[in-house]
Amino acid sequence: MATSKDYGLGEFTFPRGWFMVAESEKVTSVPQGVRYFGQDFALYRGKDSGKVILLDAYCPHMGTHLARNNTSYVIQDGAVEGDSIRCPYHAWRFGPDGKCNHIPYASGPIPPAARVRSWPVAESMGAVFVWYDAEGGEPEWDVPFIDKWDDPSWVRWRFDDLGQIQVHPQEILDNITDVAHFNPVHGSLTQRFENEFRGHKAIQRMAGGHRTLTSEGGPQLVTEAIYHGPSVLITSMTGTHDSYIFIAHTPVDDGSTYVWHALMVKSPTGQAIASAEDVPIARGYQDFALAAFAQDFDVWKHKRPCIQGLFVQGDGAFHKQRTWYRQFYNPRAKRDEYLRASEGVHVPKGMQPFSDSPKAA
Ligand code: FES
Ligand SMILES: [Fe+2]
Repeated sequence: MATSKDYGLGEFTFPRGWFMVAESEKVTSVPQGVRYFGQDFALYRGKDSGKVILLDAYCPHMGTHLARNNTSYVIQDGAVEGDSIRCPYHAWRFGPDGKCNHIPYASGPIPPAARVRSWPVAESMGAVFVWYDAEGGEPEWDVPFIDKWDDPSWVRWRFDDLGQIQVHPQEILDNITDVAHFNPVHGSLTQRFENEFRGHKAIQRMAGGHRTLTSEGGPQLVTEAIYHGPSVLITSMTGTHDSYIFIAHTPVDDGSTYVWHALMVKSPTGQAIASAEDVPIARGYQDFALAAFAQDFDVWKHKRPCIQGLFVQGDGAFHKQRTWYRQFYNPRAKRDEYLRASEGVHVPKGMQPFSDSPKAA
């Protein structure tokens, strides 16, 4: 298992950006312990506001995990009060801002140090995201959102929870650039391919046939995959159905990653309002996309880390992509340096570009 340091990514162990931490519907007023970015958190939904709250897990009083207890009467009675949460050990209560707002047995003032960190969270498209930032700064871009989510002619996704994989996120990022794996792994007959790196986005545009998905002379599979920051990949796909694939990967510890997959599709039967009839077709299509993703997983699970690849002509723009990715592992002050060295459109040797795509200035 290789670490961020092994890959030479930068000063920080974990990248800056929006990261999925849970499926919305699984976050309730029963607190749950979650672990990402090498640290533990308490996650719950406030009863007053209905908002998702993510706090550092450990109580400043005596270090108890706020969300991992099944037996204390605090838990049995319900640890969440309004938008606050009580510690299972001595029942100190913390607000959504992380500040202790009640100590049941102490008469003096609450010490200012009686607080835990509260993290910026947002819900979008059925997922809960946290803005993780080693510098503690404000979010630099909006949480990803596809407007089709609110379009009734689309069938919303349900998440495939793929769990934890012992792979550093860099190996997953490499996929966006990896033109040469599409034919051998996925059976794609790629004709046009390019990457574009621009600000916090990394884009892959691809078109071609597919060994099983398309027939000769039939419609081409055209995809545009966009990383919205370092961890959320949204791919728009036209072909059999108009659809969006969602893949989120979030670091758990340095060198391990949690992964979700989902797919949203325009009513396969052509309805203005997607019907019950559309749902099984949509789910079947999502399963099909998942099977393709599992082909990548199968490689990642068993490979050794690629710290330095032996790249040849015809490989994708791995160096540019890894340089672009470093912007998230370093202070904001260094971002432009990485962007200057990576921004633009990159077409692998032997591929046709997308003539209609915006070119590097
Ligand atoms: S350890 Fe949390 S209240 Fe005592
Ligand atoms: Fe792949």
